[in-house]
Amino acid sequence: MATATMTEQSTNGGPDPKHNIDAMREAFYERIAKRDMAPLWKVMKNVVTKEPVTRCVPHVWHYDDVKSLVMESGGLITAEEAQRRVLILENPALHGESKATNTLFAGIQMILPGEVAPAHRHVSSAIRFVLDGEGAYTAVEGEKAFMSPGDFVITANWAPHDHGNPSNKPMLWLDVLDFPAVNFFEASFADYFDDKMQNTTRGDGDSAAFYASGVLPDGAPVELNRSPVINYTYARTRPILDRLKKASDIDKSHGARVRYANPINGGPVLPTMGANLALLPKGFEGEKYRSTDGTIFVCTEGRGTTTVEDKVLEWGPNDVFVVPPWKRYSHHAAQDSVLFSISDRPAQEALGIWREDRLPG
Ligand SMILES: [Fe+2]
Repeated sequence: MATATMTEQSTNGGPDPKHNIDAMREAFYERIAKRDMAPLWKVMKNVVTKEPVTRCVPHVWHYDDVKSLVMESGGLITAEEAQRRVLILENPALHGESKATNTLFAGIQMILPGEVAPAHRHVSSAIRFVLDGEGAYTAVEGEKAFMSPGDFVITANWAPHDHGNPSNKPMLWLDVLDFPAVNFFEASFADYFDDKMQNTTRGDGDSAAFYASGVLPDGAPVELNRSPVINYTYARTRPILDRLKKASDIDKSHGARVRYANPINGGPVLPTMGANLALLPKGFEGEKYRSTDGTIFVCTEGRGTTTVEDKVLEWGPNDVFVVPPWKRYSHHAAQDSVLFSISDRPAQEALGIWREDRLPG
């Protein structure tokens, strides 16, 4: 220590104001690196950024492409062999990371007639948004939810679930899971069961009848951090959008939009993920909007574009697109259009870090 200090002193006895201080700092950084330490002041602006920094890029997956490739995968592997026959929608800037955004996984799952995707459970919460087919089911905690296009199905943290398709057509849906966020916390667990299918212990559709009808079973819990409804059907949700439009309840950025809610407390359906369904009337020109939750959208009806900063994403039925966090975007509808969307907003709100920003015009 004494020797190093001596050699870094100038001939007049004091430190050389520029040359020596740089050399002293570098020598110090090298020494502390060997002790697994580093100077915060060198990286401060990279780790405490003035605004959100994202590696994600805006992107659209067109359903025509996606469907033909998913159908092709049906000839390569069975649902049972794959556990889940899913093609991952990878953000082009995050190849190999199984992510659509930094916190959300997205994939297209297919189950062919007669197939079963075996029962398992995991800490990651999942949602399904049905794209194609009719009459396949997701069984969650002993209840079968039969699915139709536009249905929004949730599988909460640790809920056992399996999928089956007794219909005569393939069924395809969008899966979104929060496992990138769970894995960030390094908190993942999963169980794979010996029995392929769960025993049915509740009537089909019981959860919607009991909890999504404006009443609750007497004795229902007063606190539950995830919705007890398994399937929010399109048949029930879609007409509400027309009523909102008729009542002129149209947000300038988002259109006539509902939020899927937990009927126990009015909160999000899951603590980690929240979803919306919005009607954009023909000719809708949305005001620019941004928020800190990167968002995955699905078009269920109509056609239009979403401009994300200077990139224009064109969408039509069953196309999936992603808007990164804190990028300004606006929707434009060429026809009456319906967009489903899902993000990690509830997780950010619970942590007190969610922000939004609107620009008029
Ligand atoms: Fe699963």
